[in-house]
Amino acid sequence: MMAAIIAYVREHEPRPSRLIEVAGGPTVFSLLALTAALPAAPEHIVFTDIAPSNLQEVDDWLHDRPGAFDYTHLYEWLGAHAQVDPERCAAALRDASWELVAFDWHDAPPAAWIGAFDAVSSHFFVESATSDEAEARAFVRNYASLGGRDALVLLSFLQHADSWDCDGFPVASLPVHEDMIEAFLRAEGLALDDIAIQTAAGRQSSTVTGYAGVVTVSGTRS
Ligand SMILES: C[S@@+](CC[C@H](N)C(=O)[O-])C[C@H]1O[C@@H](n2cnc3c(N)ncnc32)[C@H](O)[C@@H]1O
Repeated sequence: MMAAIIAYVREHEPRPSRLIEVAGGPTVFSLLALTAALPAAPEHIVFTDIAPSNLQEVDDWLHDRPGAFDYTHLYEWLGAHAQVDPERCAAALRDASWELVAFDWHDAPPAAWIGAFDAVSSHFFVESATSDEAEARAFVRNYASLGGRDALVLLSFLQHADSWDCDGFPVASLPVHEDMIEAFLRAEGLALDDIAIQTAAGRQSSTVTGYAGVVTVSGTRS
C-alpha cells in the first residue's frame, strides 16, 4: 500500500496543501509514505479518528515524546525502497500545521470541511469498522464530499476479509475486492479520474491474520 501510494504520487505529481486523514488510527505511516513522494509535506493536515487515545498517539509522535510510536522499520523501508531520507520526511510532516479531531464518521462532516481539501486519505477504515454494507456506504458518503475537484484521493482496504484477527480479537469486516471498489465508491458520490487500483497479496503477521491482500485505490476527484 505504501509502494502503491508512492508510485501513484510520483507519477501524477500532485501538490496537496490541505489534507484530511479519515479514521487515521494511531499511525502516520501512510502520511510518511505520501510525504516521501512529494517535494514538500502538505501545509495543513486535519487528522481524524473516533478514538481520542489514537489522536494522543499521533500527538506524542508529532512532539517526539518518550514512548511515542517507533517508525524505525518504516524509515528503513522508505530509505531502501523509496530512496528518500526518512528523517527529512518525518521532519517535514512534523512541521505541517496539524489539527487532531475526534470525529465519528457516522456523522456528516461539518460544513467547513466540504470541498475544503486537495487531498483525502483513508486506510483500512470503512471495511474494518463494519461488516454492514449500508454502514460502510454511509462512511464513504460522509467523506466523499471532503475533496474539491481534482483532489488527490488515496484509499486502502483489506481484500476479501469476512473477518480478520487483530491481536487475538476477531473483527467482522466488509469483504472488498478490486472488481467492485470503484463502483462502490462512485455510487456513494466519490467518482475518481486517473484511477489506479493496486492489489498486494496479504502478508499475514503474527498479530493480524485473515485477509487475502490489500487493495489501494488512488485517483483524483471527478
Ligand atoms: C483498522 S483501523 C485503521 C487505522 C489507520 N487508518 C491505519 O491504516 O492504521 C480503523 C480505525 O477506524 C477508527 N474508527 C472506527 N469507527 C470509526 C468511526 N465511526 N469514526 C471514526 N473513526 C472510526 C478506529 O478507531 C481505528 O483507528
